[in-house]
Amino acid sequence: MRVVVVSNFDSMSDEVAKMVIAQVRNKPASVLGLATGSSPLGVYRLLAEYYKNGVDFSRIITFNLDEYVGLAENHPQSYRYYMQENLFSRVHIDAANTHVPNGVATDLQAECGRYDELIRHTGGIDLQILGIGSNAHIGFNEPGTPFGSQTQVVDLTANTIRDNARFFASPGEVPTQAISMGIKSIMSARNIVLMANGGSKADAIHAALTGPVTEEVPASVLQLHPSVTIVVDQAAGSRL
Ligand code: F6R
Repeated sequence: MRVVVVSNFDSMSDEVAKMVIAQVRNKPASVLGLATGSSPLGVYRLLAEYYKNGVDFSRIITFNLDEYVGLAENHPQSYRYYMQENLFSRVHIDAANTHVPNGVATDLQAECGRYDELIRHTGGIDLQILGIGSNAHIGFNEPGTPFGSQTQVVDLTANTIRDNARFFASPGEVPTQAISMGIKSIMSARNIVLMANGGSKADAIHAALTGPVTEEVPASVLQLHPSVTIVVDQAAGSRL
């Protein structure tokens, strides 16, 4: 595991964007695993700059980690909408090559199986981008999720619902379930980069990197992966 501590959000974004661009240049038909939330916003902005400067994303294939159950793709808080706004429309990825779990599928279980199968069918993820929850979740795999889990419907914890409430008009509108790639699905990626910024992530980063590998700290599983880079700003890395 490589740990990079940088000064702030912008340098974290810069570091991760460079890794993504190296992957895309090295393999123009790369399969990228993507996250939403506030952590990767700077990376996506930078990828749009690289696109303007000639980096070709036309053959890239993407898989997002998760989607809220019950939010259609045109809902402004859906992760499909977020990806469209923050990345897909800015780098002109072929829409057919972008994948986000369908949170309004009539058969959610079938949707989970279909998603894992699709990832396998495309040859697996080359580079997976991750954020981390303040409870050390990755994707929406909350503490206690079995390391063997594949894409599944998950109940969000009160902690995560509270963290997400800032994006919704009222607490009652925050979805309580999501479809999330499982821990095993994430660990199948050939390379992983996890980014975190801000003091609210310091405990999670500390536990994930220096504590025991345990299902109670989902991100601790990354200690078992052969190719992981952790990029944190000074605040998130303050307990390392
Ligand atoms: C988002 C995701 C989550 C977030 C995590 C951190 O697709 O899978 O695990 O990465 O909750 O969120 P932010 O970046 O908003 O602090």
